[in-house]
Amino acid sequence: MTLSRRTLILSSAAVAVALAAAAAVLRPFGGPPRRTLTAAEKQSCSLTVEAVEGPYWVSGMGELPDGNLNVKGLAGVTVEVSGHVYDGASGTTAIPNAEVEIWHADSSGSYHPNGNGPATGYKPEELALRGFVKTNAAGEYRFTTIYPGEYTGRARHFHFKIRAPGKPELTTQLIVPARPGDTLTFDTDDIAEGLPNCQQLVVDESTTLARASFDFRI
Ligand SMILES: [Fe+2]
Repeated sequence: MTLSRRTLILSSAAVAVALAAAAAVLRPFGGPPRRTLTAAEKQSCSLTVEAVEGPYWVSGMGELPDGNLNVKGLAGVTVEVSGHVYDGASGTTAIPNAEVEIWHADSSGSYHPNGNGPATGYKPEELALRGFVKTNAAGEYRFTTIYPGEYTGRARHFHFKIRAPGKPELTTQLIVPARPGDTLTFDTDDIAEGLPNCQQLVVDESTTLARASFDFRI
C-alpha cells in the first residue's frame, strides 16, 4: 500500500495532536505534575512551594516603574503586595537584588495578552499586569496592582517567578482570598491543592490601600 503525500501530512498532524493531548493530561499547564499535600504539609510554611507556570507567561517583560504593575490603569481594587526573598527555609538570610516577576489576570479574569511567548511578539498596548521588581539590600520587594479576577477553574491568584544568583528559578503562585460573589476559593481551586495554606495571601483591607505580604523562601 502506498500513502499519498496528503495522507502522510494528515497522519503526522493526527499524531502531533494526539501527543499534545497526552502531554496536556500529564502536564496540564506545562509545569510539574501537581499533587495533593498531606495535612502536615498543608500547615507548614517552609521553602516556598512551586506551582505551575500556566499558559499565560510572557517572557522578557521589564522592571516596573515604582513597583506599579498596573501602569495601564486597568479598572479594579488596588492592592499592595510586599515581603522578602530569603535564602533557605529559615527566613533569616535576605537576598538583595533578587527579581520578583509577577503576572496576573485583570478584574474580569483576562490576561493581557491571553497568550504567551516573548514580549517582543506583542504590541505594547497588548501587554499589561506583567513585569518584575527587585529586592533591596534587606531583601524586600514591593509592588502595587489590582486584584486579579477569577476565571474558569481558577480562584483569584498571582503568578510569580523568583530569580536570584546561584538559585534555580522558582515558579509559583499565591492565591487571593475569595471576594463576595466569587465561585472559587483556595479550597476549591485544584492548583491550590498543591500549595500550603500560607500561600493564600492574607489581605488587610482596614485602610484605604489593601495590603498583603508574603516572604518567598527559595
Ligand atoms: Fe493564572
